[in-house]
Amino acid sequence: MEEIHSLLHQAEKEINEATDPQSLEHVRVKYLGKKGHFTEILKNLKNLSPEERKEVGKDINLAKDKFQDSFAQRKDTLDVVARNKQELKESIDVSLPGHPIQIGALHPISTTLERISQIFSQMGFHTETGPDIESEYYNFEALNIPEHHPARAMHDTFYFNDKHVLRTHTSPVQIRAMEKMKAPIRIIAPGKVYRCDSDVTHTPMFHQVEGLMLDEGIHFGHLKGILEAFLQAFFEEDVKTRFRASYFPFTEPSAEVDMSCVKCKAKGCRICKQTGWLEVLGCGMVHPKVLEYVKVDSEKYTGFAFGMGVERLTMLRYEVDDLRLFFENDIRVLKQFSGV
Ligand code: PHE
Repeated sequence: MEEIHSLLHQAEKEINEATDPQSLEHVRVKYLGKKGHFTEILKNLKNLSPEERKEVGKDINLAKDKFQDSFAQRKDTLDVVARNKQELKESIDVSLPGHPIQIGALHPISTTLERISQIFSQMGFHTETGPDIESEYYNFEALNIPEHHPARAMHDTFYFNDKHVLRTHTSPVQIRAMEKMKAPIRIIAPGKVYRCDSDVTHTPMFHQVEGLMLDEGIHFGHLKGILEAFLQAFFEEDVKTRFRASYFPFTEPSAEVDMSCVKCKAKGCRICKQTGWLEVLGCGMVHPKVLEYVKVDSEKYTGFAFGMGVERLTMLRYEVDDLRLFFENDIRVLKQFSGV
């Protein structure tokens, strides 16, 4: 009985010394587990005389009860401590300042595309789109660029498969629009185009905006008027234009449009290579062969088409001197275009 007493004393000391639920559980196993101290004593009861067994049995059961009380009490305390600790770890200080929300901005190319659409919509042009993966028929053939035509080689085409290409220009949307709407038509077609070309001034993907106007009595004067009005609105200044004779298989006559350099006001600088002029557009009157492909009567209807490079116009407007800045998406660069 002495032994039971000192064992209980020792056990309670260990209970109170346990600092977390795990070490407390070890104490329980040490005393009440299958091979625990109290359990051993109970096992040995059978070796005692019936009277002794009764006495010792009572004592050991009492000691076990006491142990369990102390254990339960300590466990409650340690559970609360553990929970508090956990809660503290997970708690949020609602008084701390929040992370500032970075407000995004449109990419300068998107802003320019928006701007171009807006200017043309004021002149009655609505927006059409076509697929980036285009059949050879729409990208070339219906635009009067038959197989083996040297213009095909000039396009540095990415072939998607035998019959399909990544469109090399937005001109196939002209064909799709005329097939769908016949005449009259007044559309622009903005979008991505692809050419197997990559250096300081060329990227394999870039953007164009195509334009098409088709009606009775449309002539080159309309084309000049529309493009001049567009360039003045886009650059918000009195730019001069110059139409140089050129060649595209799908227009006749064809022209390239130069405008007076916005940087040096046509005095000559690095941007315009000292010429005072910047080439910004390709255009012309829709070729009768093209109208034949889309079954529009070329005796009755005439039209003009043009195509412009969006990256080029964006660089000129915002004085960006490196095309690659549009594709690297460096946040320090893009940030400077918020609000333009
Ligand atoms: N599609 C031509 C190009 O990518 C541009 C163009 C469009 C020329 C429409 C004339 C008429 O170079």
